[in-house]
Amino acid sequence: MSTDQNTDQNTQPAPRYALSARAAALRSSDVRELLKAAQQAQVISLAGGLPAAELFDTEGLRAATLAALDTNPAAALQYGLTEGQTALREALQAREREQGIALAGRALLVTTGSQQALDIVARLLLDEGDVVVVQRPSYLAALQTFNLAGAQCLGLDEDEEGARVEDLETMAFPRKPKLVYLVTPFANPSGATLSLRRRRWLLEWAARNEVLVLEDDPYGVLRTEGQELPSLAALAQDVPGARAWVGRTSTLSKAVAPGLRLGWLVLPTALAEAAARVKQSMDLHTSSFAQEVAAHYLAGGRLPAHLARVRGAYRERRRALCQALREAFGGALEFSEPEGGMFLWAHFTDGTDTRALLPAALAAGMAFVPGDAFYAGAAPRDRLRLSFSTETPERLREGVARLRKAWEASRRG
Ligand SMILES: Cc1ncc(COP(=O)(O)O)c(C=O)c1O
Repeated sequence: MSTDQNTDQNTQPAPRYALSARAAALRSSDVRELLKAAQQAQVISLAGGLPAAELFDTEGLRAATLAALDTNPAAALQYGLTEGQTALREALQAREREQGIALAGRALLVTTGSQQALDIVARLLLDEGDVVVVQRPSYLAALQTFNLAGAQCLGLDEDEEGARVEDLETMAFPRKPKLVYLVTPFANPSGATLSLRRRRWLLEWAARNEVLVLEDDPYGVLRTEGQELPSLAALAQDVPGARAWVGRTSTLSKAVAPGLRLGWLVLPTALAEAAARVKQSMDLHTSSFAQEVAAHYLAGGRLPAHLARVRGAYRERRRALCQALREAFGGALEFSEPEGGMFLWAHFTDGTDTRALLPAALAAGMAFVPGDAFYAGAAPRDRLRLSFSTETPERLREGVARLRKAWEASRRG
């Protein structure tokens, strides 16, 4: 017996949809295809970029959900304001102020994850052929967003002080950049943090050249060691003219839960008003239900203890991973240990091609992301990103043992 659908499939030629040139240019990454195998339970995955699910504060979120429905169901269930629900906006504004970010002359927009903040800024500023300066390597989904907007991404290399922003002075741009996009603390994938010196330099450059700098800060909240640095948005107060040229986005994804899909975008007021119009055309507003739950959660006062638990676990996991890698690879694998975040960025000193290594690693029962996935153009082949957030120290050690086995086999063969 055949269903209508089957009949259709058997008799009709596959429809040829005329995708927009931009959508057609978005290719599914072959790494993503390879990493589907990493979802099997027996594979120890150091490939994901996810928070640890077993640490979610389910109890606190359950209470916040009930409180949202009990206290003001209409606020949670009705359409809301494009800028965001008042209670959550106020809570997020208070958090920003605590971080030394003055909000006079700026507005905060609640977004559907910080990913949407990137999309809003892209739609707000970018025309076909516009130049966006990013760090190299870069957060992949940001590159996709800027490319989808028709922009070309040019990369700043990184060193131990983060992106080499001074190169902005000497880079040959096909046209004046519209945007500089940087993940300032604990970048994805490199874990690099932009130094204070470079932050100041960048702000002076932005003010002088009138180019918007968008600071993406999803990982600052996961600092486990060292001195917290003031954000670009906070520092801009002391650099003449810079406040008008800094935007900032952050998220509740790493601090609370990514399933909430809640982020925020802070922009100079004139830009924020235009950004709200852009957002309105995208989704009217971010889920009022999620926003009300988050507002109750933040008001409930459980976040500091939750964050302490998450940071403690990530610190232990990161240390276990670093130690296991040092013991297993010695000088064959170089990496610097970040003071927070979720990722370790390593490279094989013998030039091992990590993309070629991945199938062997998967066969041995572990997964990582080959480094070349994070580059817009020419990419080194000897890098890999290892995430330490989702696996226990014991499984991280076992994952490293499997990686070592795959690497040895690749050197023999
Ligand atoms: C650098 C960076 N920016 C933005 C995001 C998007 O986060 P979300 O949309 O969940 O807030 C991520 C997610 O991993 C990220 O790594």
